[in-house]
Amino acid sequence: MPTQLDISNLSKNFGGLRALGGIDLAVDTGELVGLIGPNGSGKTTLLNIIGGYYDASGGSITLDGHRIDGMAPSRLARLGIGRSFQVTKVFKRLTVLENMLVGALADWGLSRRAAEAKARAVLETLTLTRLADQPASSLSGGQAKLLEFGRIMMLDPRIVLLDEPFGGVHPELKRFMYDTIRTWNAAGATIILISHDMGSIFGLCRRVVTLSSGSIIADGDPEAVRNDPAVLEAYLGDHHAA
Ligand SMILES: Nc1ncnc2c1ncn2[C@@H]1O[C@H](COP(=O)(O)OP(=O)(O)O)[C@@H](O)[C@H]1O
Ligand SMILES: [Mg+2]
Repeated sequence: MPTQLDISNLSKNFGGLRALGGIDLAVDTGELVGLIGPNGSGKTTLLNIIGGYYDASGGSITLDGHRIDGMAPSRLARLGIGRSFQVTKVFKRLTVLENMLVGALADWGLSRRAAEAKARAVLETLTLTRLADQPASSLSGGQAKLLEFGRIMMLDPRIVLLDEPFGGVHPELKRFMYDTIRTWNAAGATIILISHDMGSIFGLCRRVVTLSSGSIIADGDPEAVRNDPAVLEAYLGDHHAA
Protein backbone atom coordinates (compact mmCIF):
# COMPACT_ATOMS: atom_id res chain seq x y z
CA MET A 1 0.00 0.00 0.00
CA PRO A 2 1.38 3.44 -0.88
CA THR A 3 2.33 5.89 1.85
CA GLN A 4 -0.60 8.09 2.77
CA LEU A 5 1.16 10.70 4.85
CA ASP A 6 4.77 11.36 3.97
CA ILE A 7 6.72 13.73 6.18
CA SER A 8 10.14 14.55 4.84
CA ASN A 9 13.01 16.43 6.50
CA LEU A 10 10.49 18.53 8.44
CA SER A 11 11.96 21.20 10.67
CA LYS A 12 10.60 23.95 12.89
CA ASN A 13 12.42 26.80 14.58
CA PHE A 14 10.89 29.12 17.15
CA GLY A 15 13.32 32.02 17.07
CA GLY A 16 16.64 30.45 18.00
CA LEU A 17 15.04 27.26 19.34
CA ARG A 18 15.03 24.23 17.04
CA ALA A 19 11.82 22.42 18.04
CA LEU A 20 11.96 19.89 15.18
CA GLY A 21 15.19 18.98 13.46
CA GLY A 22 14.51 17.21 10.20
CA ILE A 23 11.75 14.68 10.84
CA ASP A 24 11.23 11.83 8.34
CA LEU A 25 8.06 9.84 8.96
CA ALA A 26 5.97 7.80 6.53
CA VAL A 27 2.52 6.63 7.63
CA ASP A 28 0.38 4.17 5.67
CA THR A 29 -3.39 4.32 5.39
CA GLY A 30 -5.07 2.80 8.43
CA GLU A 31 -2.08 2.83 10.75
CA LEU A 32 -2.61 3.71 14.41
CA VAL A 33 0.64 5.36 15.42
CA GLY A 34 1.53 6.34 18.98
CA LEU A 35 3.72 9.42 19.34
CA ILE A 36 5.61 9.60 22.62
CA GLY A 37 8.55 11.51 24.05
CA PRO A 38 9.49 13.66 27.01
CA ASN A 39 7.95 17.09 27.58
CA GLY A 40 9.22 19.62 25.06
CA SER A 41 10.40 16.97 22.60
CA GLY A 42 8.25 18.44 19.78
CA LYS A 43 5.17 16.19 19.71
CA THR A 44 2.58 18.97 19.72
CA THR A 45 4.64 21.02 17.28
CA LEU A 46 4.68 18.11 14.83
CA LEU A 47 0.90 17.68 15.09
CA ASN A 48 0.39 21.43 14.77
CA ILE A 49 2.35 21.47 11.52
CA ILE A 50 0.53 18.44 10.07
CA GLY A 51 -2.79 20.07 11.05
CA GLY A 52 -1.84 23.40 9.44
CA TYR A 53 -1.66 25.43 12.67
CA TYR A 54 2.06 26.19 12.30
CA ASP A 55 4.13 26.64 9.18
CA ALA A 56 7.17 24.43 8.91
CA SER A 57 10.60 26.05 8.74
CA GLY A 58 11.71 23.45 6.20
CA GLY A 59 10.82 20.12 4.64
CA SER A 60 7.55 18.85 3.20
CA ILE A 61 4.40 16.87 3.94
CA THR A 62 2.43 15.04 1.28
CA LEU A 63 -0.99 13.39 1.52
CA ASP A 64 -1.44 10.72 -1.15
CA GLY A 65 1.44 12.29 -3.04
CA HIS A 66 0.15 15.87 -2.93
CA ARG A 67 1.82 18.62 -0.92
CA ILE A 68 -0.29 19.74 2.03
CA ASP A 69 2.23 21.63 4.16
CA GLY A 70 1.25 25.28 4.45
CA MET A 71 -2.46 24.58 3.86
CA ALA A 72 -4.93 26.19 6.30
CA PRO A 73 -6.59 23.94 8.91
CA SER A 74 -10.00 24.47 7.26
CA ARG A 75 -8.69 23.19 3.93
CA LEU A 76 -7.08 20.20 5.63
CA ALA A 77 -10.38 19.49 7.39
CA ARG A 78 -12.05 19.37 4.01
CA LEU A 79 -9.47 16.74 3.03
CA GLY A 80 -10.55 14.73 6.09
CA ILE A 81 -7.82 15.64 8.56
CA GLY A 82 -9.31 16.15 12.03
CA ARG A 83 -7.66 16.81 15.35
CA SER A 84 -8.12 17.34 19.05
CA PHE A 85 -6.07 19.77 21.13
CA GLN A 86 -3.93 19.25 24.22
CA VAL A 87 -6.01 22.02 25.80
CA THR A 88 -9.60 21.45 24.66
CA LYS A 89 -10.85 24.14 22.30
CA VAL A 90 -14.56 24.85 22.06
CA PHE A 91 -16.39 28.07 21.28
CA LYS A 92 -17.82 28.74 24.72
CA ARG A 93 -20.51 31.21 23.72
CA LEU A 94 -21.87 29.11 20.85
CA THR A 95 -24.27 26.31 21.65
CA VAL A 96 -23.08 22.72 21.57
CA LEU A 97 -24.93 22.19 18.28
CA GLU A 98 -23.44 25.35 16.76
CA ASN A 99 -19.96 24.16 17.77
CA MET A 100 -20.62 20.99 15.79
CA LEU A 101 -21.71 23.01 12.76
CA VAL A 102 -18.94 25.62 12.58
CA GLY A 103 -16.56 23.63 10.43
CA ALA A 104 -19.25 21.83 8.49
CA LEU A 105 -20.96 25.00 7.30
CA ALA A 106 -17.97 27.31 6.90
CA ASP A 107 -15.38 24.94 5.57
CA TRP A 108 -16.73 21.97 3.75
CA GLY A 109 -19.97 23.14 2.31
CA LEU A 110 -22.63 20.77 3.65
CA SER A 111 -26.15 22.20 3.48
CA ARG A 112 -27.44 23.52 6.80
CA ARG A 113 -30.14 20.83 6.92
CA ALA A 114 -27.73 17.97 6.16
CA ALA A 115 -25.12 19.28 8.60
CA GLU A 116 -27.63 19.72 11.39
CA ALA A 117 -29.09 16.24 10.90
CA LYS A 118 -25.62 14.75 11.02
CA ALA A 119 -24.62 16.84 14.05
CA ARG A 120 -27.71 15.75 15.97
CA ALA A 121 -27.01 12.10 15.15
CA VAL A 122 -23.42 12.45 16.37
CA LEU A 123 -24.52 14.27 19.56
CA GLU A 124 -26.89 11.38 20.21
CA THR A 125 -24.02 8.86 20.09
CA LEU A 126 -22.06 11.13 22.46
CA THR A 127 -25.07 11.35 24.82
CA LEU A 128 -24.97 15.14 24.46
CA THR A 129 -28.42 15.57 22.90
CA ARG A 130 -29.81 17.01 26.11
CA LEU A 131 -27.21 19.81 25.95
CA ALA A 132 -27.44 20.55 22.21
CA ASP A 133 -28.94 24.00 22.66
CA GLN A 134 -26.95 24.99 25.74
CA PRO A 135 -23.87 27.20 25.46
CA ALA A 136 -20.68 25.12 25.31
CA SER A 137 -19.54 26.95 28.47
CA SER A 138 -22.02 24.75 30.35
CA LEU A 139 -20.11 21.55 29.46
CA SER A 140 -17.88 19.76 31.94
CA GLY A 141 -14.26 19.20 30.91
CA GLY A 142 -15.07 15.64 29.88
CA GLN A 143 -18.10 16.72 27.85
CA ALA A 144 -15.98 19.37 26.09
CA LYS A 145 -13.58 16.58 25.10
CA LEU A 146 -16.53 14.62 23.75
CA LEU A 147 -17.58 17.66 21.74
CA GLU A 148 -14.10 17.82 20.23
CA PHE A 149 -14.41 14.16 19.25
CA GLY A 150 -17.85 14.97 17.83
CA ARG A 151 -16.42 17.68 15.64
CA ILE A 152 -13.93 15.16 14.26
CA MET A 153 -16.81 12.72 13.60
CA MET A 154 -18.51 15.39 11.49
CA LEU A 155 -15.59 15.05 9.05
CA ASP A 156 -15.80 11.31 8.45
CA PRO A 157 -12.08 11.59 9.07
CA ARG A 158 -9.35 9.97 6.97
CA ILE A 159 -6.66 11.11 9.37
CA VAL A 160 -7.15 11.88 13.06
CA LEU A 161 -4.51 13.72 15.08
CA LEU A 162 -5.02 13.41 18.86
CA ASP A 163 -2.94 15.43 21.32
CA GLU A 164 -3.11 13.89 24.79
CA PRO A 165 -6.84 13.18 24.67
CA PHE A 166 -6.83 11.13 27.91
CA GLY A 167 -5.36 13.75 30.25
CA GLY A 168 -7.57 14.15 33.32
CA VAL A 169 -10.32 12.04 31.79
CA HIS A 170 -12.71 9.84 33.80
CA PRO A 171 -12.12 6.07 33.18
CA GLU A 172 -15.57 5.63 31.66
CA LEU A 173 -15.00 8.46 29.19
CA LYS A 174 -11.55 7.08 28.45
CA ARG A 175 -13.12 3.76 27.50
CA PHE A 176 -15.54 5.55 25.20
CA MET A 177 -12.60 7.40 23.60
CA TYR A 178 -10.75 4.10 23.10
CA ASP A 179 -13.81 2.65 21.38
CA THR A 180 -14.20 5.74 19.19
CA ILE A 181 -10.53 5.66 18.17
CA ARG A 182 -10.80 1.96 17.34
CA THR A 183 -14.01 2.59 15.36
CA TRP A 184 -12.37 5.35 13.30
CA ASN A 185 -9.38 3.11 12.71
CA ALA A 186 -11.54 0.11 11.73
CA ALA A 187 -13.33 2.35 9.23
CA GLY A 188 -9.95 2.95 7.58
CA ALA A 189 -8.85 6.17 9.26
CA THR A 190 -5.21 6.74 10.06
CA ILE A 191 -4.61 7.84 13.66
CA ILE A 192 -1.66 9.62 15.22
CA LEU A 193 -2.02 9.60 18.99
CA ILE A 194 0.11 11.59 21.43
CA SER A 195 -0.18 10.34 24.98
CA HIS A 196 1.81 10.20 28.18
CA ASP A 197 -0.42 7.34 29.22
CA MET A 198 1.77 4.39 28.24
CA GLY A 199 -1.03 1.92 28.99
CA SER A 200 -3.15 3.60 26.32
CA ILE A 201 -0.30 3.84 23.83
CA PHE A 202 0.72 0.22 24.23
CA GLY A 203 -2.90 -0.93 24.33
CA LEU A 204 -3.99 0.88 21.18
CA CYS A 205 -0.96 1.25 18.92
CA ARG A 206 0.95 -1.32 16.90
CA ARG A 207 3.59 1.26 16.04
CA VAL A 208 5.18 3.71 18.42
CA VAL A 209 7.34 6.65 17.35
CA THR A 210 9.51 8.31 19.98
CA LEU A 211 10.65 11.92 19.76
CA SER A 212 13.47 13.40 21.78
CA SER A 213 14.71 16.98 21.39
CA GLY A 214 12.98 17.33 18.03
CA SER A 215 14.29 14.10 16.46
CA ILE A 216 12.86 10.62 16.07
CA ILE A 217 14.99 8.31 18.21
CA ALA A 218 12.87 5.14 17.90
CA ASP A 219 10.15 3.86 15.59
CA GLY A 220 8.80 0.34 15.87
CA ASP A 221 6.40 -2.05 17.51
CA PRO A 222 5.57 -1.39 21.18
CA GLU A 223 7.80 -4.19 22.50
CA ALA A 224 10.85 -2.91 20.65
CA VAL A 225 10.28 0.66 21.75
CA ARG A 226 9.64 -0.38 25.36
CA ASN A 227 13.02 -2.10 25.47
CA ASP A 228 14.96 0.53 23.55
CA PRO A 229 17.76 1.97 25.72
CA ALA A 230 17.64 5.30 23.81
CA VAL A 231 13.97 5.72 24.78
CA LEU A 232 14.66 4.96 28.44
CA GLU A 233 17.57 7.36 28.38
CA ALA A 234 15.41 10.15 26.92
CA TYR A 235 12.79 9.71 29.65
CA LEU A 236 15.36 9.50 32.43
CA GLY A 237 16.95 12.72 31.17
CA ASP A 238 13.51 14.32 31.23
CA HIS A 239 12.91 13.10 34.78
CA HIS A 240 16.17 14.57 36.05
CA ALA A 241 15.50 17.85 34.25
CA ALA A 242 12.08 18.02 35.92
N1 LIG B 1 4.47 28.67 19.93
C1 LIG B 1 5.69 28.44 20.40
N2 LIG B 1 6.60 29.44 20.54
C2 LIG B 1 7.83 29.20 21.02
N3 LIG B 1 8.29 27.99 21.38
C3 LIG B 1 7.44 26.96 21.27
C4 LIG B 1 6.11 27.12 20.77
N4 LIG B 1 5.50 25.90 20.76
C5 LIG B 1 6.41 25.03 21.23
N5 LIG B 1 7.58 25.66 21.54
C6 LIG B 1 8.81 25.01 22.05
O1 LIG B 1 9.11 23.95 21.18
C7 LIG B 1 9.57 22.80 21.91
C8 LIG B 1 8.65 21.63 21.63
O2 LIG B 1 7.39 21.89 22.25
P1 LIG B 1 6.14 20.94 22.06
O3 LIG B 1 5.99 20.61 20.63
O4 LIG B 1 4.98 21.61 22.72
O5 LIG B 1 6.60 19.66 22.88
P2 LIG B 1 5.74 18.44 23.46
O6 LIG B 1 4.36 18.50 22.89
O7 LIG B 1 6.52 17.23 23.05
O8 LIG B 1 5.75 18.59 24.95
C9 LIG B 1 9.60 23.24 23.38
O9 LIG B 1 10.91 23.66 23.68
C10 LIG B 1 8.62 24.37 23.42
O10 LIG B 1 8.93 25.29 24.45
MG1 LIG C 1 2.50 18.67 23.80
